[in-house]
Formats: sequence, C-alpha cells, structure tokens
Amino acid sequence: MPKAFIFDLDGVITDTAELHYQAWKRLADSLGITIDREFNEELKGVGRMESLEKILALDSNQSDLSLERKEALATEKNDHYVDLLGTISEDDILPGITDLLATIRQQGIKVGLGSASKNATHVLKELKLIDQFDYIVDAAQVSKGKPDPETFTNAADYFGVDYVECIGIEDAPSGVTAVNSAGMFSVGVGTAEALSHADYRVDDTTELDFDEIIQAYQSFGV
Ligand code: G6P
Ligand code: MG
Repeated sequence: MPKAFIFDLDGVITDTAELHYQAWKRLADSLGITIDREFNEELKGVGRMESLEKILALDSNQSDLSLERKEALATEKNDHYVDLLGTISEDDILPGITDLLATIRQQGIKVGLGSASKNATHVLKELKLIDQFDYIVDAAQVSKGKPDPETFTNAADYFGVDYVECIGIEDAPSGVTAVNSAGMFSVGVGTAEALSHADYRVDDTTELDFDEIIQAYQSFGV
C-alpha cells in the first residue's frame, strides 16, 4: 500500500481554471490585450507571475514594465480571482473526489495537497474540504514550482515517507513531470495526448477509483 496521496488542486479537486481565466481576462482587457480560452490552456499549472509574463508577451508595448508595475498587475488579477472564489461551494468539488478522499483516509493513508496556488487553503475552505487534508503545500512553501519536484517532495518529507510510497494526482503536463521527477507514482487526469508521461491515466475525475489506482501502483512494481 502507498503511504501518501498528494493531490493537485486546480483541475483535480475543483475546476478553478475558468475563474483564473475570467480574472486574467479582466486584467488583460484593461491593458488592451486579448486572451481566449485556448490561450488559457497554457496558463494551467503555471504560477501567477509567470502567467502574467505570458500575457504581457502578447503585446510588444508591454514587454518592459517595471517589476513594481508587474507586481501591482499580479495583485490586481488576484483581487479579481479572490472575488470570484466567493462564488464557489461544495457543489464545485469535481465528481468522485469526495468519495476518493474518504476511501484513502479510511485506509489510514496520508492525504496531502500540492498546489502552485497561493490561494490553495482559501479554496479548500470554500469547498469545505480543509479537514480532509493532513498537510498543504502551496506556492509560498516552495522555492521552485512545478515541473520541479519540490512541491511533492516537500509533502512526502513532512509525512516522513519514501517518495516511492507516494502517489501524485495531476491534470497538468508540468505537474505530472513534477511527480515523475520526485520518483513518485503519477496519476494523470486528462487526455492521452497531454499526459502520455503519466504512469496511470484517466480521462476525468469520475474514473478515479481507489482500487484501480492501487492495482496500477502495485503492478508498476513498487
Ligand atoms: C495553479 C493554476 C494556475 C495559477 C497558479 C497560481 O497552478 O493552475 O492557473 O496561476 O495556480 O495561483 P495563484 O492563486 O497563486 O495566483
Ligand atoms: Mg492542475
């Protein structure tokens, strides 16, 4: 049996990508920059400042803003995002996740969160899931974000378990890379095209079945 499950937040526990998109779009519109949902795919799993850089890179007139100005813009986007978080509730937990968390906990396996979002704790509180997590790693705790493995190794180190005894669940390609680089078993939630490097993959969260994940983990030879 594995000793810990470490979950990504955005796209695995809940779909906040749309809210991030709306907040970025509002900021981009105010700067006269056009972004669409297709472009938003490139922002999934990408940190706040890095996302801002990608948006500013769309407009050559905004490429050399001062760090102070960029920080102000990132704060503005976050204010929009936090406003939108006020609209989420337990109804926004992705299907299958509540049962999966309960089953893992019943087995006495640790549950961690590994997110690139500084709003991770806030989101879990809004979803009323905070009590289901033994430990939360968010962007404030790591020096290097995904695809660096630090987000996941930080949680395993806190639990005092070997990396090979951990399962990481991710929807973003960079997140799966982070889990793999940590030497953990990676579960990808998404398309085969995007997540071909996952050790085990499902199309969406409804297919996340505890027994099937354990079977895949064990047959992987851990
Ligand atoms: C997650 C999301 C990204 C977001 C990042 C930082 O990885 O997928 O879209 O930019 O977290 O979130 P934050 O709430 O700290 O701005
Ligand atoms: Mg994600």
